[in-house]
Amino acid sequence: MSDIYPIKWNADTKILTLLDQTLLPHEEVYNEYADPEEVAEAIRSLVVRGAPAIGCAAAFGVVLASMRYTGTETGELKALVNSAMETLGATRPTAVNLFRALDRMGSFLDTLTEVPCDRIQSDLEKEALAILDEDLAACRRIGDFGSELVPANSKILTHCNAGALATAGYGTALGVIRSAFRDNKVSMVWVDETRPVLQGARLTAWEMARENIPATLITDNAAGAIMAAGEVDFVVVGADRIASNGDVANKIGTYNVAVLAERHNIPFVVAAPLTTVDPSLPTGESIPIEERSPDEVAGYGDLSWAPEKIHIYNPAFDVTPAELITAIVTEKGIVLTPFGPGLASLLVTE
Ligand code: MRU
Repeated sequence: MSDIYPIKWNADTKILTLLDQTLLPHEEVYNEYADPEEVAEAIRSLVVRGAPAIGCAAAFGVVLASMRYTGTETGELKALVNSAMETLGATRPTAVNLFRALDRMGSFLDTLTEVPCDRIQSDLEKEALAILDEDLAACRRIGDFGSELVPANSKILTHCNAGALATAGYGTALGVIRSAFRDNKVSMVWVDETRPVLQGARLTAWEMARENIPATLITDNAAGAIMAAGEVDFVVVGADRIASNGDVANKIGTYNVAVLAERHNIPFVVAAPLTTVDPSLPTGESIPIEERSPDEVAGYGDLSWAPEKIHIYNPAFDVTPAELITAIVTEKGIVLTPFGPGLASLLVTE
């Protein structure tokens, strides 16, 4: 299930194709990229978004940087690639998958000594394809592990879009929903619209409709009342960065949902690949939170509803403390609280 692939690489033409997520759900447009700076701009402007997806796209940005080089000096090629990696790494600060993918490409490049330029290019291409394939496989496994946690006949609430669009395919939180739906456990999905950029209303709703998974779109503000009415059995969200202790950064508003879920005794589950875990951070306190343009809050598209002089604060992510999280589902299994030891042991065998 799911034929949505937001990132495609053409091995013949060496062109990267990204589904333009800023135009969904009304237009399904695929943009082509041969230039790493343009890939960086696509990440910055949310053409491609979602933690694993931006990691995958950045890996291909690195490949494109290497392919632009037509000479034979490996030092020159490596300098070009390193400079592109800096540009790609300066796009979005919160999702650690971006940095994990760039580090992996960079470390791999370092191992390629005394190798001709065309070999470096083709080896980097293989590495980026491996990152893409591994993410897709991880999402499918996350879905299957996560489905085990979903009670029969569940109404599931999700926030933002942690779907096929946010990954190489299948999704993390939506991967759990897809697998649980396949297992006949889902009666309905509550889709938080997810202000300010409406990833829920535009992207999650699109994915659910495309696969005929019964879904109902709600304003973010409605979640509490719907939980209080006993209409939510399970919450599943994705993650942009998970600290060693299990604190989770995810789309702004996730923390609100977690607090509400605790109040109403509803399982609050995070689904993410191990590339989202940042073992260098002991807690979520030090996760960098991206602040985005005030325009995203003042209006949408060409429409603006806020007075021009109002001061606007637009953090794109928040941190949900580990104590509010029931389980973290990874491709290597389900981790329960206390998350620290469980996450550490899965990372050791990664
Ligand atoms: O700003 P975005 O759209 O990139 O934010 C995306 C999210 O917060 C997702 O929930 C997260 O990246 C997980 S995607 C599998």
